[in-house]
Amino acid sequence: MTERPAEASLSRRDLLKIAGAALVLPQGAALAAPPPRLTPTHAGATSMMGVPFEPKDTVRVAIVGTGLRGSSVLREFLAIDNVRITALCDIVPEKVTRAAKRVTDAGQPAPAMFTAGDHDFEQLVTRDDIDFVYTATPWPWHTPVALAAMKAGKHVGTEVPVAMSLEQCWELVDMSEKTRRHCLMMENCCYDFNEMLVNTMIKQGLFGEILYAEAAYIHDLRALLFEDRDEGLWRRIPHTNRQGNFYPTHGLGPVAWYLDIHKGDRFDYLVSMSTAERGLSLWREANIPKDSPKWKETYVEGDINTSFIKTTNGKTILLTHAVTTPTPYDRLNSVRGTKGVFKDYPARFYIEGQRDANGKVYGESLRPIDELKAQYTHPLWQRIGEIAKAKGGHGGMDYIMAFRLIECIRQGLPPDFDVYDATAWSAPWPLSETSVKRGSIPVKFPDFTRGGWQNHRAGI
Ligand SMILES: NC(=O)c1ccc[n+]([C@@H]2O[C@H](COP(=O)([O-])OP(=O)(O)OC[C@H]3O[C@@H](n4cnc5c(N)ncnc54)[C@H](O)[C@@H]3O)[C@@H](O)[C@H]2O)c1
Repeated sequence: MTERPAEASLSRRDLLKIAGAALVLPQGAALAAPPPRLTPTHAGATSMMGVPFEPKDTVRVAIVGTGLRGSSVLREFLAIDNVRITALCDIVPEKVTRAAKRVTDAGQPAPAMFTAGDHDFEQLVTRDDIDFVYTATPWPWHTPVALAAMKAGKHVGTEVPVAMSLEQCWELVDMSEKTRRHCLMMENCCYDFNEMLVNTMIKQGLFGEILYAEAAYIHDLRALLFEDRDEGLWRRIPHTNRQGNFYPTHGLGPVAWYLDIHKGDRFDYLVSMSTAERGLSLWREANIPKDSPKWKETYVEGDINTSFIKTTNGKTILLTHAVTTPTPYDRLNSVRGTKGVFKDYPARFYIEGQRDANGKVYGESLRPIDELKAQYTHPLWQRIGEIAKAKGGHGGMDYIMAFRLIECIRQGLPPDFDVYDATAWSAPWPLSETSVKRGSIPVKFPDFTRGGWQNHRAGI
């Protein structure tokens, strides 16, 4: 990568520049004293909530960033009928050539290739044979690619997170509303089997009213972060100059669906704290030769970041980020309601007064969810679960996500998530950074929906 777009720093200027950006309360101020405007006015803004795609029989997809993730999602798209891959872009020509071969091997015409540097996606998006641009670039490019695609009249889906600052979030909301193009964040974990199962249980009232949830990205990335290829080329950088929860959406996206966020509720404010940094320093000490330029780096991101989010309707969410300590993979993925509990990793549940087949009360024990699968498996998994497991990455959820996107476009349905979800689920990074830097003060979420969350109800 030869050039990076500037990552917005979280200066006071940034926070105040856009009316309605995060409210940072002065030390000791009462949270109940909001500033006059939490929602920027945008003359003529019309919501993109519930706006259907214009139906297309064949969906023409372009991919920007054909690294590990881009080529993996390419495989999902190639496995779905009525999808054509018309253009590919990466700054490394060999990666595009390799991806293009997979397209032609699948029996499709050769896609157009864009390899002329960091901004060549700006040429790609101007083509008239593209309906949807998907981008799996490093994080700093998600927002620039999404803005360029919408400006050129294309719907766009980015990898996670959609943005790295609140300023970028608002730019995306404004552009989506102005161009009437969707900006989706392709949060595959929303489509995982357990997440969809639990969402179905919740919507059918099994756990009563949900009051509390836990969401996380707990993944030991130390070895990957120090590699001299792929994510090792860019993903360590924020550990040197940013703080907070860099990767909130894998856990938070599904929880937002559980809690009906933007369907009568929304994230209100967040508090956050981080541990000291140890993990990357210790890993470097043990594994990296002393003459490596990596020894010039200073790691400022704490190993474990823990945030609490309160919703407007009084629910709370524990949100954790931990990628630099030894640990098994975990997204926590749990909910607590007025009638019971679900906990994942491994998936278990408890319902008050639950009885076995003979009518005997089980007592206060967590039981495996297997007995509930027949009743609560989500219709998408019932319909295409077997093919998803056979063809798709990450246990099938990636295929389900891609299939569902294409289904929504082909049938002219609204997408399952929109620019407001993308920005609200990504906002915990800059918000947690502000809270951490200021002694864990509460920081308000902007209302990216401009009030639309109160009346919107539809959803998967
Ligand atoms: N949803 C998931 O489960 C999941 C899994 C892995 C990665 N990701 C996300 O996918 C994204 C990509 O991750 P990855 O693992 O594929 O990383 P990667 O480094 O393997 O791939 C990134 C690709 O983008 C290319 N690139 C860089 N700048 C570019 C530009 N300006 N224009 C076009 N191409 C450019 C790189 O050459 C590289 O091929 C990240 O946002 C990551 O967080 C998501």
